[in-house]
Amino acid sequence: EQWFTQSQSLAGKRVLVTAGGTIERLDPVRYLTNDSSGLMGFAIAEAALNRGADVTVVAAKTAMQPGAGLNVVRVESAEEMLQAVLERYAATDIVIKAAAVADYRPTTVAASKIKKTGEHLTLELERTTDILKTLGEQKSGQFLVGFAAETDNVKAYAMDKLQRKNCDLVVANDITREGAGFNVDTNIVDVYGSEGLVATLPLLSKREVADQLLTLVANRMASGET
Ligand code: CTP
Ligand code: CA
Repeated sequence: EQWFTQSQSLAGKRVLVTAGGTIERLDPVRYLTNDSSGLMGFAIAEAALNRGADVTVVAAKTAMQPGAGLNVVRVESAEEMLQAVLERYAATDIVIKAAAVADYRPTTVAASKIKKTGEHLTLELERTTDILKTLGEQKSGQFLVGFAAETDNVKAYAMDKLQRKNCDLVVANDITREGAGFNVDTNIVDVYGSEGLVATLPLLSKREVADQLLTLVANRMASGET
C-alpha cells in the first residue's frame, strides 16, 4: 500500500486507458499490426489502480497479463477500440490513450483466405478514425491524455497533436532514442500541456513513467488546470 497526498490520489476517479497495438485484418488469418507490447498502457493502468482509481483498460494486441482489479476489455481493430472507448466515455473522468492505433486499415477484408496469384500484390488501405481526436471533439469535462511517438521535431509535433486533438496533456517520446518507445521496459518522455513543456523525465522504467505521469494528471486536475 502506498500513501499519497490528497492531490495525488485518484480515489473515486474513473480512468480509462487504451493499450497495445491494434490489429487490422486482411483476411481470416492475416492482419496488419505494429510493435506495441501494451507495457506502457498496462503500467499506467496499474499505477492508477494503486492510487485508488476505478480502472478500465481497452486493450488491443498485447503481451501483458492483466493484474487483478483491472477491468479489461479486449478489442482488435481501431474501429472496435473506438466503439469500446466511446461507449464508456461519458462515465469516465480521465482517458489515457497509450495504444498504438493503426492509421490505415485494408479497404476490404476478404471473407476467405486470400490465395496467391501473380508475382505482385498491392494492398489498398484507408484511414482509420482518429480515436483521440474524436474524444477531443466530444469532451465534456474529461481529462484527456494523448501520446505522441516521434522520430524528429518532437516538440512541434507533440504541441500540434495536443491542440488538434484537444488534449490536456501529451506524452511525447522520441522513439529513435535508446531506451524509449516500443519493445523496451523503459521510456524517456517529455510531457506537454497547453502552455508548452510541462515536464522532462529522464530514462525511467515504464512503471516509474506511469507514476510520474499520474502525479502530473492528479495535480493538474486538483488545481483545475486542463
Ligand atoms: N491515435 C488515435 N487514433 C488513431 C491514431 C492515433 O487515438 N487512429 C492516438 C494514439 O493513441 C496516440 C495519439 O493519437 O495517443 C498520437 O498517435 P501518433 O501515432 O503519435 O499520432 P498521429 O496523430 O496518428 O499522427 P502520425 O502517426 O502521422 O504522427
Ligand atoms: Ca499514427
